[in-house]
Amino acid sequence: MTDLAGVFKLHDFEELARETLSSSAFAYYSGGAGDEITLQDNISAFRRRRLRPRVMVDVSMIDPSSSFLGTPLPIPVGLGPTAQHRFAHPEGEVATSRAAKEAGVMMCVSTIANRSLEDVAAVGDAPRWFQLYIHRDRGISKAMVERAVAAGYRAIVITADLPYPGYRERELRHPVVYEGEAAFGNFAGIVDSEGAELLQLLDEVVNTTVTWDDVEWVRELSGLPVLIKGILTGEDAALAVEHGAAGVVVSNHGGRQLDRVSASVDVLEEVVQEVSGRCEVYLDGGVRRGTDVAIALALGAQGVFIGRPYLFALAAAGEAGILRALELLSAEFVNALGLLGATHVRQLKRTHVV
Ligand code: FNR
Ligand code: LAC
Repeated sequence: MTDLAGVFKLHDFEELARETLSSSAFAYYSGGAGDEITLQDNISAFRRRRLRPRVMVDVSMIDPSSSFLGTPLPIPVGLGPTAQHRFAHPEGEVATSRAAKEAGVMMCVSTIANRSLEDVAAVGDAPRWFQLYIHRDRGISKAMVERAVAAGYRAIVITADLPYPGYRERELRHPVVYEGEAAFGNFAGIVDSEGAELLQLLDEVVNTTVTWDDVEWVRELSGLPVLIKGILTGEDAALAVEHGAAGVVVSNHGGRQLDRVSASVDVLEEVVQEVSGRCEVYLDGGVRRGTDVAIALALGAQGVFIGRPYLFALAAAGEAGILRALELLSAEFVNALGLLGATHVRQLKRTHVV
C-alpha cells in the first residue's frame, strides 16, 4: 500500500496510479480525445487565472460547507460520475462509495459502473446522485431510473455530451478487453462483456437519439430533480432551464469527447449569466487545487466535481487514497478562503478572480 504521508497534492496520485494500473486501464482513465488539447486546457485555464485577495478580515473561523440542490455538504466538491472503478480497486464503486460516505461528500454514480447502483447504495445512506446514459431502448432506461429512485438516489444527472464516444487514441492503442466478471453492473442480463472491448460495449449502451424531450420524460418518471451534464454554451443552458432542469454541469467530459472545445472554467461565466439563478450551475474538468475550487465558486458555480484525481487515488491507495485526496482539497480550499478574506463560500465573489 502506498505511503500517503508523502502525498501533498492531487497531482501526486497520477504517478502512483501509473505504477499500479495496467497500461490499458491507465490509458482509459487518463486519456482524452484527439490531440488532448481540451484535456490540457482544462488544467491550464485554471492556472491562467489570478486571485484578488482582500485583507484585514477576521478569518479565525472558516466554514467551507455548502449544499448541492439543498443537501448540506461539508465541502463544495463531489466525486463526479466515472465508469469502471474495478480497474482501480477489486470492489470497484463500492470502495468509492464507502470513502464518499465517510467524507460525507456527494457521489455521482455512473450508469456504466462495474458495480450495480444497488451495491453502491448498500454501503448506507449518503448523498448520492445517479448519472444516466439514456439507452436507445427507453424501457431499459426506465427500469434503471426506477431502480435509482428505489435505492434512494436524490437526483438524476443526464449526461448529454456522449451520443457516442469521442475519438480516443490512447484507448485505441491500449484497448481494454474483458475477461471474467461482468463489467457493466447496471446491465446484468443485458450486456455480456466476456471477451468484449470497452469501447465496443460503450457504443452499445449509449445512443444518438437523446433530445431535450427526454429531460421531461426523466423528470416525470423519477419525480427527482434532473441535471444536465455536458453543457458548454449559454444557449444550451437556457434550453436546459426551459426543459425544467434543476441544474447543469458545465463540463467537456474531462476532454474525452470533442477535442478543441473550451476549458470548462472558460465557459462557466457564460452559463452562469445565461441561467441567472434559475438553476444551479456545477463545473467539472481540471479541478486539482483548493484555489481551483475557489475560482469556480467565485465565478458562480454552486459546486465542483472531480474525476481522474479520485480514480488515481483509489488505484494508489484504495479508500484511504480517496479520503486523502478529499482531505487535501478541503484543507487547500479552507486555506484559500482564509487568504482571500472569505469566511464562507457565499463570500466568494466575481471580484476575487481576474
Ligand atoms: C469519465 N466521465 C464520465 N462522465 C459521465 O457522465 N459518465 C461516465 O460514465 C463517465 N466516465 C468517465 C470515465 C473516466 C475514466 C473519466 C476520466 C471520466 C467524465 C467525468 O464525469 C468528468 O466530466 C471528468 O472526469 C472531469 O474532469 P477531470 O476531473 O477528470 O479533469
Ligand atoms: C467515458 C464514458 C464512459 O468517458 O463516460 O469513458
